[in-house]
Amino acid sequence: MEKFIVHGPCRLNGEVTISGAKNAAVAILPATLLVKGKCHLENVPDISDIRAYVKILESLGSNIEYISKNELIIDNSNVNSAIASSELTSKFRASYYLLGSLLGRFDKVQISLPGGCNLGARPIDQHIKAFERLGATVEVRNGNVYASRTTSLKGAPVFLDVVSVGATMNAILAATLAEGTTVIENVAKEPHIVDLANFLNSMGAQIKGAGTDTIKITGVKELHQVSSYSIIPDQIETGTFMVAAAVTRGDVLIKNCIPKHMEPITAKLLEAGATVKEYEDSIRVSMDKKPNSFTVKTSPYPGFPTDMQPQICILLTVASGTGMIVENIWESRFQYTDELAKMGADISAHGTTAIVKGVDKLYSAPVHSHDLRAGAAMIIAGLVAEGNTEVYDIHHILRGYEDITAKFANLGANIEYVKNEEN
Ligand code: UD1
Repeated sequence: MEKFIVHGPCRLNGEVTISGAKNAAVAILPATLLVKGKCHLENVPDISDIRAYVKILESLGSNIEYISKNELIIDNSNVNSAIASSELTSKFRASYYLLGSLLGRFDKVQISLPGGCNLGARPIDQHIKAFERLGATVEVRNGNVYASRTTSLKGAPVFLDVVSVGATMNAILAATLAEGTTVIENVAKEPHIVDLANFLNSMGAQIKGAGTDTIKITGVKELHQVSSYSIIPDQIETGTFMVAAAVTRGDVLIKNCIPKHMEPITAKLLEAGATVKEYEDSIRVSMDKKPNSFTVKTSPYPGFPTDMQPQICILLTVASGTGMIVENIWESRFQYTDELAKMGADISAHGTTAIVKGVDKLYSAPVHSHDLRAGAAMIIAGLVAEGNTEVYDIHHILRGYEDITAKFANLGANIEYVKNEEN
């Protein structure tokens, strides 16, 4: 089984450059399907979720040219199918963006029910509601989602019952080429939603209000190709390095990030006692003492991101006193705490709350990555722990972190990648 071996403890020092945002890229790649032409994308993260999306688009007829590992030209002039292979789409969550984008272009769309990280129930009722409000018919059967329309989609008011990133993005995608005006209320405001809207607007879409509670989309007949669009930096990768810098009592300059997007994480690091300096497009995090404990409650942007919850927990495991985490987005996002207990952490998690009593040290142990962000937390724990921490199920981590071992190595960490012990 492939694994990382994290040689700890280690104090991180130096500079790291953040890659493009995974959660923006996984919406922008399918959004290119709305244009019958070429899109030139820059700052695309080189991660396995993107490689999977490239395969899906190619299976639909896209022609994709890699200019470099982070720069692609996607030509969707000859896309002729809206039936995506279930083998490709069932593996990851963001394949649901094919529904909104393909519905803009085709009468009938089929994908398999999306997979992704196991964080508890992951319904798509709000996505379906948005498509139906715009006039589509949607059926879920035999593990597939079938969406169809008999005429063009028609703009309509859409009120989301829960603040959902995916449903907001899918409603935007479907409404972009619909006839008339769509007003989506109670939307998510994450930076990747603003990035998707900016990308579509750069191709001629008329989307206003992204980043606020209400988004208004005036449908346009067609989009034009885009000569160059650069994806925003990854908020969660930035946060992961911020926490790693603080908890290892290091000093790290994190480059190519947007400090404004990091405010909820910066606030917690300051409470913990770290020094955080913000520059125009970089952040420097340093810390030279045991962290103070604190309380974190996850909530939609601009609140504390659920995708940073496992990583920030590592700070609490070695803090002075007792801290608390309240998870408000996903129902089972504390599975990773059992892995941390193997390393000596003192965590008691029940329902939506975890109580974390700080201990003096973590010790190495073989641990599993339950999901992408839990995997990142295991790496951070390994950097703090005495000894060699073996992290398994690292395919989850590779879904969302570009060059993770090299980036940590540049900061002085030693993380070995072991391909496959059996071979
Ligand atoms: C996205 C992110 C994921 C992150 C999450 C919350 C991507 C590819 N993934 O996931 O990493 O953890 O946002 O920031 O961008 N819900 C419903 N019905 C729906 C849709 C969602 O009830 O139709 C609920 C979910 O169960 C959850 C909450 O809404 O409790 C938020 O989910 P949502 O924002 O949709 O998450 P994703 O878009 O799947």
